[in-house]
Amino acid sequence: MIEKIREELKSKLSEKRFAHTVGVAETAVKLAEAFGGDTKKVYIAGLLHDMAKELTLEEMNNLTQDVEIDSYMRTSKALLHGAAGAVLAKQTFDVDDEIYNAIFYHTTGRENMTLTEKIIFVSDMAEPSRNFKGIEKLREIMLSDLDDAVITAADLTLSYLIENRKNIYPLTVISRNYIIKEKNSGNSIESVVK
Ligand SMILES: [Fe+2]
Ligand SMILES: [Fe+2]
Repeated sequence: MIEKIREELKSKLSEKRFAHTVGVAETAVKLAEAFGGDTKKVYIAGLLHDMAKELTLEEMNNLTQDVEIDSYMRTSKALLHGAAGAVLAKQTFDVDDEIYNAIFYHTTGRENMTLTEKIIFVSDMAEPSRNFKGIEKLREIMLSDLDDAVITAADLTLSYLIENRKNIYPLTVISRNYIIKEKNSGNSIESVVK
């Protein structure tokens, strides 16, 4: 399955994005090892998360026509490629719900994310080919405190959007607020590697 996926992605994605997806998959495995996740599952989700990223907005909308998505997301490739990628991954490789959701929510996050969803959310930001202000902090903390890394990744996204006067999709704020509350209530995920 992994070889088939790699072949499919090589034909669908630019060289740079292919390298990014491999980086996300490999980072995700490290996080799964640190937090007791399913390494095979996160590797597949990491590889497939941006599968639809280079489609047109029309293609993304066609793929997701049976999925409930608000009108704002339907106008934004930056947001819609997650949902479109999830549907495409299901159609092409029959991925399970956990992988589907990790792909679906990799840009926005959501309330009550699973371990696999959190791992993909953080890996997408932290993989080695990424370079932006604040990334060192994220890489420093991600192997010891996953929830802190999710919050930091959301903060970095929000800071970027504010600095560049871009629209903020409400679910990004909702998912950040949720995980802060979850962390403060003492239910956060801690590293299994002491
Ligand atoms: Fe993405
Ligand atoms: Fe990505």
